[in-house]
Amino acid sequence: MAYTGERSVHPGHPGIPVPTLAAGWRAFQALRRHRHILGALAALHEELGDVFRLPLPGFDGVFLVGPEANRFVLTEERANFRWRAEADPVTHLLRHGLLVEDGPAHDAARSLMAPALHKTMLASYVSQMQRRADQVIANWADGDRVDMLVEMRRIALLILMDTLFAEDFDPELKALWPAILRTLRFISPGAWLVWPGIPRPGYREALRRMDQYFYQLIALRRGQQGVDSKTNNLLDTLIASGMSDDLIRDQLFTLFIAGHDTSTAQLAWSLYLLSTHQDILARVRAELDSALGKAGCEEDAAGPTLTQLKQLSYLDGVLKETLRLYPPIHLGSRIAATDLTFQGYFIPARTRVLYSIYLTHRQKRYWPTPDRFEPDRFIGEHAGQRPAYAYTPFGGGPRNCIGASFAQLEAKVVLARILQRFDLRFVGGAAPSPRMRATLEPSPGVYVQVRRRP
Ligand code: HEM
Repeated sequence: MAYTGERSVHPGHPGIPVPTLAAGWRAFQALRRHRHILGALAALHEELGDVFRLPLPGFDGVFLVGPEANRFVLTEERANFRWRAEADPVTHLLRHGLLVEDGPAHDAARSLMAPALHKTMLASYVSQMQRRADQVIANWADGDRVDMLVEMRRIALLILMDTLFAEDFDPELKALWPAILRTLRFISPGAWLVWPGIPRPGYREALRRMDQYFYQLIALRRGQQGVDSKTNNLLDTLIASGMSDDLIRDQLFTLFIAGHDTSTAQLAWSLYLLSTHQDILARVRAELDSALGKAGCEEDAAGPTLTQLKQLSYLDGVLKETLRLYPPIHLGSRIAATDLTFQGYFIPARTRVLYSIYLTHRQKRYWPTPDRFEPDRFIGEHAGQRPAYAYTPFGGGPRNCIGASFAQLEAKVVLARILQRFDLRFVGGAAPSPRMRATLEPSPGVYVQVRRRP
């Protein structure tokens, strides 16, 4: 493949569009206007189309946008893509975890871990989810100004460790908080993309602390096997499978990161959107009050059941619309394992290919008024009005999100607990911008005033 000025060219194929100087300038202006990189990417997409290449010093990727692109990457050609990129920080952190493995090693780990996240397990998690949400919410006093990004992270961490690993994470939460944020920062996009060897101060120590925690947890649980075995949780399943401590640590760390940071972002964005759309919030609340009745009240220890939660179709629409506007995983990254062709464009082996969930979710041809928050898009007859793969917040195909059902249940439980008890008013000033961290986070946070409902 040869590169000539503005286009990458392969004999017999059109060159993949790359930004011209003028397009680059317009993308820069969009970046300044929107205050986030996704604004610049959207400008490039508008100018260059659904397939474009971004050749930066040290980073060169082909972006694919739209349902056809998603189908191409996620199902049709999935066997011809690799996930693992040896030099990426996420591979350094997760080593041989499910998220960064390919082939039989991936498939074996996935079949071992999938049952704990299967739909049939969800009913058993509802009360733990509720209890952990309540534990954090209990600290909010009437009139408090709360950063929902921080609070939702607390809830998501406690829920994940409790439900999947039968572990009370509360005693560790404060001490490990800085290390958690530091490791998340390590895998976030940043200057390492163009300068892979850039120093990452603080990371080594954060990793040491996290590893120490995970290895201690594994050792402790190994000691309890057969004596006081807490059956039916994923950590015990991994131990019982004969996996080495190193590999168990990799899987624990993978679920810890992938399973809490995404839910944190989803919950924080949904609370931002609800607190700035009081009409929609009122509809959600009316649905909650009618479906859950007293089950939503503090005094009722039993809380909502899975059947009751399934009736919350408007809340479901709110959550789906939140994921459309702000997909926590806004793109999926792959490496082409062989030469490929997409819509006539030649993609040589070893190219980094990025399928953009964010840009697909805002394509005007599938999503009228794409920047508006309209949960009704997902309700009733509107729900089926777009092609498959136009909406992929959880990816797709055999490597879709293993925790999708878990995450949606968790979001419903947590929001139900908050909204039935508190009125919310956004007091953060300007709208938060979507910041590309390990997930798409609202920056600088979601500041909301909480008022107890009478
Ligand atoms: C709102 C919440 C969540 C969102 C939006 C989300 C999104 C995604 C997406 C888009 C992928 C595929 C990425 C790609 O194709 O490159 C994925 C994979 C994955 N997710 Fe999630 N996720 C969420 C929650 C969770 C939870 C709760 C867990 C675990 C408890 C989890 C664990 C994983 C794992 C392990 C993978 C890799 C699966 C594999 O490669 O086989 N996720 N997620």
